Amino acid sequence: MVLGVIGAGAMGSGIAQVAAQIGWDVIMYDLSKEQLSKSEQALEQTAKKLVEKGKWDPDDASKILARVKYVDSYSPMSACGLIIEAIVENLEVKKKVFTELEAHVRPDCILASNTSSLSIASIAGALKLPARALGIHFFNPAPVMPLVEIIPSVQTAPETTARAEKWIADWKKVGVIAKDTPGFIVNRVARPFYSESIRIYEEGWASFAEIDAALKKYGRFRMGPFELMDFIGNDVNYAVTESVFHAFYFDPRYRPSFTQKRHVEAGWLGRKSGRGYYSYGSEPREDVVMGGARGEQIMRRVVLMLMNEAIDAVFWNVASPKDIDLAMKRGVNYPKGLLAWADEWGLEDVLRGLEQLQAEYGEDRYRPSPLLRKMVREGARFFPVED
Ligand SMILES: NC(=O)c1ccc[n+]([C@@H]2O[C@H](COP(=O)([O-])OP(=O)(O)OC[C@H]3O[C@@H](n4cnc5c(N)ncnc54)[C@H](O)[C@@H]3O)[C@@H](O)[C@H]2O)c1
Repeated sequence: MVLGVIGAGAMGSGIAQVAAQIGWDVIMYDLSKEQLSKSEQALEQTAKKLVEKGKWDPDDASKILARVKYVDSYSPMSACGLIIEAIVENLEVKKKVFTELEAHVRPDCILASNTSSLSIASIAGALKLPARALGIHFFNPAPVMPLVEIIPSVQTAPETTARAEKWIADWKKVGVIAKDTPGFIVNRVARPFYSESIRIYEEGWASFAEIDAALKKYGRFRMGPFELMDFIGNDVNYAVTESVFHAFYFDPRYRPSFTQKRHVEAGWLGRKSGRGYYSYGSEPREDVVMGGARGEQIMRRVVLMLMNEAIDAVFWNVASPKDIDLAMKRGVNYPKGLLAWADEWGLEDVLRGLEQLQAEYGEDRYRPSPLLRKMVREGARFFPVED
């Protein structure tokens, strides 16, 4: 099989590596020749490192490198059965690229976008054959993160989705099907990890370091929210929050925060700018110990909001409970699936916790999902009790 990749940036290069590793030929296109050669050099460097570490056999490494061809026009894309676009996150530019690309591809070629936040229906709408389009959303870095969200739009043919599912499984990735709604699964369900933590800080409950420590100690998250935002980049994380908030018609649950906005305005973007919520100078950061009731309360409030978001995603049929839990574990390394975790706490307890927050603040932001109320009423749970 031949994969076409449009956009040789961070994601396109990673996706090309994933496909070449399992034996697909890859044709990589970018508007910028400089970016194409950077991508080629980056893959060579990766191969060198993996051979040195003994993870790749030298012969296999040369075969993998030889499978990727770098081109500066769309015409070679006529060989592809699947093309994944990973260019700049701009709807107009993406639509233009899809329209132009379609003139060069076979009628049975599937066209996918790796967009994180744009609607697949709007991208597919630029095509003469929209039934061949869908979202195939990898996580960064694509060769490392197992999760891939597969997003059919209203126009996507069932056969297109079925073929994409098979290919993602062939690539040894964990595919989950998500509805074409803002943020798909992960970028929607994860929002409270950041926003509720920032709110706790804004209310003066605890410092960035204390909140991070509480979530790591009591929630067993690998990184705290502030460390993670600094790692992702506050500019990138803020842009996703704002785009999800707009796309949900300003639902208060997704409202961005002034704290993060001010950090972006100040140029405190995180690791990449040397300063975010933390400073990334030569001095090691002091470890904060977060013990006792306050730490547990902080963790509980953030996790309650995450659980509510995951439950609401089930309510709105964004994905199945199994896929939502899988997505959070394999796309963003959550220690547990949020729905299984809610079962473990007891749905009644989760509902009570959210109702207390809603009563305390009087805000719609804390409204429990209607599905949670219904399940509590019926004594239901998401997954059967394990033996
Ligand atoms: N970076 C992430 O963490 C991440 C994760 C998942 C999805 N995404 C999505 O993947 C896409 C790419 O993101 P990225 O981080 O790889 O970006 P990037 O900036 O690293 O790369 C984008 C590449 O697209 C090229 N490009 C721009 N316009 C083009 C055009 N008209 N034709 C061909 N090439 C063009 C640029 O030269 C650049 O090489 C975006 O839609 C983004 O939202 C990003």
